[in-house]
Amino acid sequence: MKLFDVYPLYDVTPAKAKGIEVWDDKGQKYLDFYGGHAVISIGHTHPHYVKRIKDQLDKMAFYSNSVQNPLQQELAQKLGELSSCEDYDLFMCNSGAEANENALKMASFHTGKSKVIAFTNSFHGRTSAAVAATDNPSINAPINKQQEVTFLPLNDTEAFEKAITSDEYCAVILEAIQGVGGLDEPTTEFFQFIANKCKEHNVVLIADEVQSGYGRSGKFFAFQHHGIQPDIISIAKGMGNGFPVGGILIHEKFKPSYGLLGTTFGGNHLACAASLAVLEVLEDENLVENAAELGTYFRKKAAEIRQIKNIKGKGLMIGLEFDFEVADLRKKMIVEQHMFTGSAKNKKLLRFLPALNITKNDIDLFFEALKKAL
Ligand SMILES: Cc1ncc(COP(=O)(O)O)c(C=O)c1O
Repeated sequence: MKLFDVYPLYDVTPAKAKGIEVWDDKGQKYLDFYGGHAVISIGHTHPHYVKRIKDQLDKMAFYSNSVQNPLQQELAQKLGELSSCEDYDLFMCNSGAEANENALKMASFHTGKSKVIAFTNSFHGRTSAAVAATDNPSINAPINKQQEVTFLPLNDTEAFEKAITSDEYCAVILEAIQGVGGLDEPTTEFFQFIANKCKEHNVVLIADEVQSGYGRSGKFFAFQHHGIQPDIISIAKGMGNGFPVGGILIHEKFKPSYGLLGTTFGGNHLACAASLAVLEVLEDENLVENAAELGTYFRKKAAEIRQIKNIKGKGLMIGLEFDFEVADLRKKMIVEQHMFTGSAKNKKLLRFLPALNITKNDIDLFFEALKKAL
């Protein structure tokens, strides 16, 4: 059997990794400023993470959600404390798309409605309602297009007000910092406006923090830069530092009932061990603060490079915009400079999504390499 060929691949085969360093199968070292697409939050093979997962594996990898699993409660408790979201409940699943599916489903159950408001350039995953709320017709199959989603421009209060007053919608879903789309953000004024309008019209506000959450923006959640409180928050990527895990934080005003949501693998013992290890390291090493501080340092350095026309994002979720398409530059960074970076729907944007425990020295190395590649 061969693989179903859906990914254009760089000719690199990572074989081992530590922190932000990755070695390929020929022993060539790379620096990972992409974090495997914003997934690596505490660094590759962090010793505490490895130990926590290994210890759990020695005890038990999995049992179903039909029995008690105190690790889930421990995780919910710790996540509530570190994220200052103690008035939410946690439901665990396995990926970002699945988190958004569950969030949208909750919104639909809660309101009895099915239409969704999403925004231009959004990305929420590749399944059912999540992909329908993703602004990319080429990845929506006819079966997905049955969902009714209205795409609105970000930061257009007039268009938003006009749509929401129709009282047809169950949910508004948005990224506090757009990832795949290219690092555009709602303004605080717009975020507060839509939060108030959602309350007024009993529409569920879903913050998709799959990419921007877990400290990446320099606050635990990126919406926390704007003084609003979403009804549901979806999480994944950095949550497991590479272990496949996702979840939603559901405000406690939503009442659960047996069978409302469910999953076989979500919240399994290994996923909980990985997720707890991530939170413990984030706390012990002050990584949210590090992301904020190093984000500021990165911007200062980026501002010195004349070819960079615009610096987008917050904390260590950064996009560097050039006045040319960056595909060749990204390739040069990998092949010649041995550094991984990310791309976006905006083809002129190079994305920087490293582990949150990088150092100023790592950033200096990145800019030395970038200057050479330019
Ligand atoms: C903001 C956002 N939401 C959802 C997803 C989907 O996550 P997953 O690929 O884990 O399904 C992504 C993935 O890039 C994302 O960036």
